[in-house]
Amino acid sequence: MTGPVPDSRPADAPGTDPFVRAHLLVTGGAGFIGSAYVRNVLARRDGTRITVLDKLTYAGNRANLEPLQADRELAGRFHFVQGDIAEPDDVDPLAAAADAVVNFAAESHVDRSIVDPEAFLRTGVIGVHVLLEAVRREALRAAAGDRERAPRLVQVSTDEVYGTVPDGLSSEADPLAPRSPYAAAKAAGELLVRSYAVTHGTDAVITRGSNTYGPFQHPEKLIPLFVTNALDDEPLPLYGDGLQERDWLHVDDHVGAVDHVLRHGLAGEVYNVPGDAQLPNREVVKRLLGRLGKPWSLVRTVEDRPGHDRRYAMDGSKIATLGWRNRVPFPAGLDATVDWYRANEAWWRAVRTGDWHAWYERQYAERLAGSAEA
Ligand code: NAD
Ligand code: DAU
Repeated sequence: MTGPVPDSRPADAPGTDPFVRAHLLVTGGAGFIGSAYVRNVLARRDGTRITVLDKLTYAGNRANLEPLQADRELAGRFHFVQGDIAEPDDVDPLAAAADAVVNFAAESHVDRSIVDPEAFLRTGVIGVHVLLEAVRREALRAAAGDRERAPRLVQVSTDEVYGTVPDGLSSEADPLAPRSPYAAAKAAGELLVRSYAVTHGTDAVITRGSNTYGPFQHPEKLIPLFVTNALDDEPLPLYGDGLQERDWLHVDDHVGAVDHVLRHGLAGEVYNVPGDAQLPNREVVKRLLGRLGKPWSLVRTVEDRPGHDRRYAMDGSKIATLGWRNRVPFPAGLDATVDWYRANEAWWRAVRTGDWHAWYERQYAERLAGSAEA
């Protein structure tokens, strides 16, 4: 059981929010972060309606949206469409009926982008272009008086577009220096969004989130992979020396920030969304093993990720000027996440089936065969 959706924070006061009772098109809304956005926004019970467009790739999961079905009021404001953001026939009719498009759709795993990057480019570049064209067309209809107002596009991007950051904090004006095919596709998507904002005056905003964790995250990513492996007393494959640093952001904070930028961000602007815990991977693993009561001896040092970014860290002062701040402290967020995986074994066992085994073999078999004590 993944449980019902709890009520979330109230929306902004009436009068300050241009998207009260809006109809949102949420692309990629069956994935980890997109589904949290859908659950949390609908749980405000403020009349917002949401249509999800999701291709249901290996990472898309209808079970992530299942908690909505337990609540008739929430389910009544929610509609799901299976489709591809790179297909105008899928996107255009939905964009025509939307007040805003919030784009979470992407191939999101760096390791997969190293093995097979094509889908990353199709969704991250062609897909973003299809969304931009749809939004531009709707803006022209608004200008002609055929609809009330132009839809806003929120492009959900990542701190990985800055590349590795040896010291200090990345700020929004820093150059983009992506170093993996995943990050390059995300940077390309951002550049397209920026070009439409400048050239066509498209109402678009970009968020750059940091490493996100929480319930319903696909177990290919560090925290859920290590928690679920540890629950089965399987080895935990730590890349290289394990001293790479990430800044951990709870998923509820990430989606709160995306929604805040939708409602309050300035058109054409980019907003960093930092976490509240800059930590080396070793420390994260130590803490999750502590919560699980499992031994460090499960951790194995394995061959590093090619081109592995050593450190990400962002300055959050720009989004703070919009009135947003982190709310979930990492220690409490991590404990709750570990507990969620322990309590929702049926969810993650169902994900770790089918293609999962071929992926795991390809990614880890040789690495683990040559592994060492960590
Ligand atoms: P995810 O892989 O869990 O979910 C991606 C979703 O997009 C899936 O439901 C998938 O089916 C869908 N999708 C993929 N291609 C599609 C297409 N062509 N058309 C429609 N749907 C498609 O990813 P996530 O971790 O939830 O990340 C969501 C977004 O946030 C991504 O854009 C990612 O780049 C960004 N982001 C993620 C993190 C993180 O730590 N996970 C941090 C910063 C930014
Ligand atoms: O920084 C934001 C990004 O965070 C998002 O844009 C991506 O969509 C998201 O996947 C995430 O990317 P990372 O590559 O940082 O996440 P991942 O969970 O794959 O890895 C986190 C760290 O853990 C990284 O330093 C690599 C390391 N790692 C990961 C895996 C899967 C390991 O040591 N072993 C592993 O098996």
